[in-house]
Amino acid sequence: MVSPMSSLETDDAAFIRSLPKAELHMHIEGSLEPELLFAIAERNGISLPYADVEALRAAYSFADLQSFLDLYYQGADVLRTEDDFADLMAAYLERAHADGVRRVEMFFDPQTHTERGVGFDVFMPGFLRAMNEAANRTGISTALILCFLRHLSPESAWETFDQAEQGGYLDSIIGVGLDSGEVGNPPEQFADVFDRAAEAGLHRVAHAGEEGPPSYIWGALDALDVERIDHGVRAEEDPELIARLLIDKVPLTMCPLSNLALCVVDDLADHNLGRLLDQGLMVTINSDDPAYFGGYVGTNYEQTAEALELSRDELVQLARNSIRASFASDEEKDRWLAEIAELDELAENG
Ligand code: HPA
Ligand code: ZN
Repeated sequence: MVSPMSSLETDDAAFIRSLPKAELHMHIEGSLEPELLFAIAERNGISLPYADVEALRAAYSFADLQSFLDLYYQGADVLRTEDDFADLMAAYLERAHADGVRRVEMFFDPQTHTERGVGFDVFMPGFLRAMNEAANRTGISTALILCFLRHLSPESAWETFDQAEQGGYLDSIIGVGLDSGEVGNPPEQFADVFDRAAEAGLHRVAHAGEEGPPSYIWGALDALDVERIDHGVRAEEDPELIARLLIDKVPLTMCPLSNLALCVVDDLADHNLGRLLDQGLMVTINSDDPAYFGGYVGTNYEQTAEALELSRDELVQLARNSIRASFASDEEKDRWLAEIAELDELAENG
């Protein structure tokens, strides 16, 4: 039987876009494109140390995670009003929808905002309004993960959790995460606040093994009881850890273009994502900070597929992994997995 899909979707980019997928590792503040950053700065009367959008984009060249974080926190400083956060969210969800994303679980960094006097009652209503509007318009399923900044103290993380709780926002998030500068900030210090989040019924994830050693991945699993590892590139250095990740089916939310931009790998062709996938790990592809690292999730799939010569079966596997690794309901997961199965069958018969 000639299927409409097989004749329609011939090239890899179109195939990738047509694959229902989940994005599980994306910092909403990292989706702030220079154009929107300038527009928001202007309406808030903020002057920027860059002449124009091109000059800002030209500054996006990083030696490591910290050199990126310095610019990323500076960029987030233009976000001051509820509308700023709503516009940021709306722009990202539009792009994600265009890439075939059915489900997004987005990180946000409250401390980046509360530290400069912008509170939960400003950013949460902005995020939630844009999430509702996007869901109504496109059907995209969305969720928020509150990240603690690990370069700040555990006390600051507690204070942030308390602010979320007192503001009545725990029902608006599905989990907590841990991000920012990794080396020198091991996960164990945040065990208590992660325990509290678990008690409150929240999911737990953490960045680990991006720049930090395998021991930080062990720490995230054992001390924070995380359900996914964000990045996990350096897991490969420790065979026992690989065995643990396999046995417990711990998803890795990998971000190939981020790793290239932050010099975690020198060349996309050297990325271990393909090897880890071959070994049976629950690997997923994500964009991390798409405005800064040269691509949204679809581009991450495309460039990784090209560099690592991934087959269509492997692309389908990556999309399936992303759905399975998500915290969506079983009903939603079954629906998207059925859509993938249908597409896969059409591709095979075509
Ligand atoms: N790593 C750690 N913290 C972050 C990142 C990242 O890639 N992006 C935004 N915050
Ligand atoms: Zn990240």
